[in-house]
Amino acid sequence: MTQEQAIRDQVAQDYAKAVLRPGAAPSSSSCCGVDACCQPEQKGVAVKSAGYSADELASLPEDAVVNSFGCGNPTAFTNVKKGDVVLDLGSGAGIDILLAAKKVGPTGRAIGIDMTDKMIAKANENIANSGLDNVEVRKGIIENMPIEDASVDWVISNCVINLSPEKTKVFKEIARVLKPGGQVLVSDLVVEDLPESVRNDPRLYSCCVSGAINETQYLQGLRDAGLEDVEVVDRFVYNSEQLKAFLASEILEENTSSCCGSDSASGGLSAEQASAMASDLEGKIWSANFSARKP
Ligand SMILES: C[S@@+](CC[C@H](N)C(=O)[O-])C[C@H]1O[C@@H](n2cnc3c(N)ncnc32)[C@H](O)[C@@H]1O
Repeated sequence: MTQEQAIRDQVAQDYAKAVLRPGAAPSSSSCCGVDACCQPEQKGVAVKSAGYSADELASLPEDAVVNSFGCGNPTAFTNVKKGDVVLDLGSGAGIDILLAAKKVGPTGRAIGIDMTDKMIAKANENIANSGLDNVEVRKGIIENMPIEDASVDWVISNCVINLSPEKTKVFKEIARVLKPGGQVLVSDLVVEDLPESVRNDPRLYSCCVSGAINETQYLQGLRDAGLEDVEVVDRFVYNSEQLKAFLASEILEENTSSCCGSDSASGGLSAEQASAMASDLEGKIWSANFSARKP
């Protein structure tokens, strides 16, 4: 097995554990910065802080909201129109494909890609409960998308590309599947001057920290793939309290559904380690929204 595949397998295993069991408390399921915005036990509030409006959240199955692991609201930054085809990379439990499906209406289509069977099963439950029939999830990896060339109007993604061990392939695949004139809107965690100790900490990969790149690398990756009008359209920088809440909720819980490595062989962090790490990371990690267009 390649090292890249081993990383994907670990990420899939961590996200499979993170999917809530029916009736489980939502506090144990946070990933990828959503809870960095809020109290860890207030999942609903946390998701709103990721940029979703109350109306958007109220329109979705509750399970799609509590199993949201994003760090932004990509469709809020798009002008997705009726009839468009929207592709969501790493669609998880489906929050953004459901929102996109409502925006594109019955003449459009929202397609998600995810590699984690439990996430796909949860998304399919949420799709069934939504009553929408213009939305689907395909099993696959975003480095080799199960999508035809030049077939989508929008590529969106919410806190996923940082998890890819082969980001250049992801950027190339985005360019391949977009129609000419098609657009990209990606929300993701980015980092600057990440300490080597954090970069090399395997417990911090699945929670979207260790694998994250900086804004310059992100913008260049999109440009190198042949996309144009590449820019950052919005940022949310986490303060140390938010980072502490994020790391504590992610890493400290043993034997729970946290996706941040606590169940891995490397074990979890102590409260003191999480607090020190939060101070080290202040100003070095934020959520950014990137936009781009295929010529
Ligand atoms: C942080 S969660 C985000 C889920 C969703 N976008 C949201 O906002 O709730 C990451 C998701 O991406 C999926 N994922 C991570 N790496 C992937 C890859 N290389 N290919 C396909 N799916 C991937 C995981 O299975 C997981 O469902």
